[in-house]
Amino acid sequence: MVQLHEMIFRDAHQSMLATRMRTEDMLPIADKVDQIGFFSLEVWGGATFDVPIRYLNECPWERIRKLKKAMPNTPMQMLERAMNIVAYWNFPDDIVKKFIYLAKKNGVDYFRIFDALNDLRNMEVPIESVKENGGHVQACLSYTISPVHTVDYFVEKFKKLSKMGADTLCIKDMAGMISPQRAYDIIKGVKDAGIKQPIDLHSHYTSGMTGMAYQRAVEAGVDILDTAMSPISGGTAAPATESVVAALKGTEWDTGYDLELLIEIRKYFLKVWDKYRHLHRFNALKVDPSVTLHQVPGGMLSNLIFQLEEQGAHDKYQEILVETARVREELGYPPLVTPTSQVVGVQAVMNVLHGRYKVITKETKDYCKGMYGKPPAPIKVEIMKKVLGPKWKDEVIDCRPADLLEPMWEKRKSELKEHTDVKLTDENIMTYAIYPQVGLKFLKGQAQAEFTSEDLPLPLDHKLTRGMVKQSFPEVKDLWLETLPPEKRSGPAQIPTEFEVEVDGEPFEVKVIPSGGFMVSGATSGAPQKPKDIDGGVKSNMQGTILSLKVKKGDKVKVGDVIATIEAMKMEQEIKSESNGEVKDIFIKEGDSVSCGDLLMQVL
Ligand code: CO
Repeated sequence: MVQLHEMIFRDAHQSMLATRMRTEDMLPIADKVDQIGFFSLEVWGGATFDVPIRYLNECPWERIRKLKKAMPNTPMQMLERAMNIVAYWNFPDDIVKKFIYLAKKNGVDYFRIFDALNDLRNMEVPIESVKENGGHVQACLSYTISPVHTVDYFVEKFKKLSKMGADTLCIKDMAGMISPQRAYDIIKGVKDAGIKQPIDLHSHYTSGMTGMAYQRAVEAGVDILDTAMSPISGGTAAPATESVVAALKGTEWDTGYDLELLIEIRKYFLKVWDKYRHLHRFNALKVDPSVTLHQVPGGMLSNLIFQLEEQGAHDKYQEILVETARVREELGYPPLVTPTSQVVGVQAVMNVLHGRYKVITKETKDYCKGMYGKPPAPIKVEIMKKVLGPKWKDEVIDCRPADLLEPMWEKRKSELKEHTDVKLTDENIMTYAIYPQVGLKFLKGQAQAEFTSEDLPLPLDHKLTRGMVKQSFPEVKDLWLETLPPEKRSGPAQIPTEFEVEVDGEPFEVKVIPSGGFMVSGATSGAPQKPKDIDGGVKSNMQGTILSLKVKKGDKVKVGDVIATIEAMKMEQEIKSESNGEVKDIFIKEGDSVSCGDLLMQVL
């Protein structure tokens, strides 16, 4: 018998609906889902912590409590990013331990733990904490293809994880690129090595090979397969649950699940799928076998295309693809999963736009120092020299990255105490500790729930609807770009520059500003008019938000001095002076959005 791990409540909508499914969409069908007898249900973790507080005005802790209560018969599982928990950076041990304690207390039974680099040191603390709290550890290895990621590599690491206390094991093929033979060989290898824990295969339909890979995995003895109910399956999401159940029916691997009940559940989720139709991306539904050639995951590709468009360089797509593969090799073949996909992808974009390793992001530096963990293969020495300088050896750490972090819980607790309008519960402190800015806004009741397709006042293809969607969901900008013919994809010409929209019955005057962003009258104070071209003008070579100013008027600067930092493509980058002189004028302030070519300062 094979069992299924159902992902409609987490991975599926994270893959296809920008993680926007709400608790209110889950509860009405919970009772029926609970009757199926799934091995486990993925309901929490990953982006389902960040998105609810940021976009849905929903408390993630309340969600897990409600789901646990509504589905008492099925284990509730969360995706836990090792020392990154449910964010994108390392946390100290005290936060990781406390988080796992709280997650278990609020209703999580199974913890799927993975580290982007498969650095097992990063997995120790979360694994031990889950065991201490009586939870089930599902230890994962991130799957990727490279000369170092051999069958032996995976089998040896699984052996170690099995000794570290894993209850079940999992191959996490987040990019959906595992081939049938590869799936067979790794699972067979694990079984032949005498590893006793059941093994799970997690994949996505991206390459189009996944149905075949699942069949071969079954033949090799896989115990659990990851699927998602059909309305949010296929393409960049997982293979469909009902299809896998039907395919295995009557064989020795029969799941024994009630197919009729599953089809009934399907009908419900079709309505949920429709409720978020403004987020549908047609390309995400297609298979993309090109991933098998260049090993760059589909999700990362669409992200890169979007980032290139932001930087006004969408013609460089092919170059970036080749560069991404090259950077990944130079950096020791990290699996391309959050956060390493971002490190590699952004560095590749920088290399193509500005020359190889001419602009180096803070994240690339941290990666090379070992702050994410140990890369699967050594980073090329010439790259280390370029990134960290001639004394690169002194900069590299050889301890576990979190060993360098100070405990944080008490500090965050006393910080939150200052905000007397926030109830000081452990869960609230944790929300604040993980996402200090967004979390605090949410805890203070200042977050607002986004609209759904049903709230849209105008037809979906209406210009104003496009404008509203673009405003609320910057990341779906590419959806609208895709629906336009190529010659119309840039320039604000076909979009009205000023109009009135109604939100919750209240009219808002909306004005399109030249960068393509929106300005709501009265809500945002107008930025001072920036001059276009002047002597000694320092311009931004990327689109982003100014994080900090490192100089003030009258300061003397030299070539190469850092004058400001900018957040572009979710990464912090330094802006350096290209001339010697004095800062005569500054045209930006911290928090400003700037476009490529915008004037920042005058240095004469
Ligand atoms: Co996944």
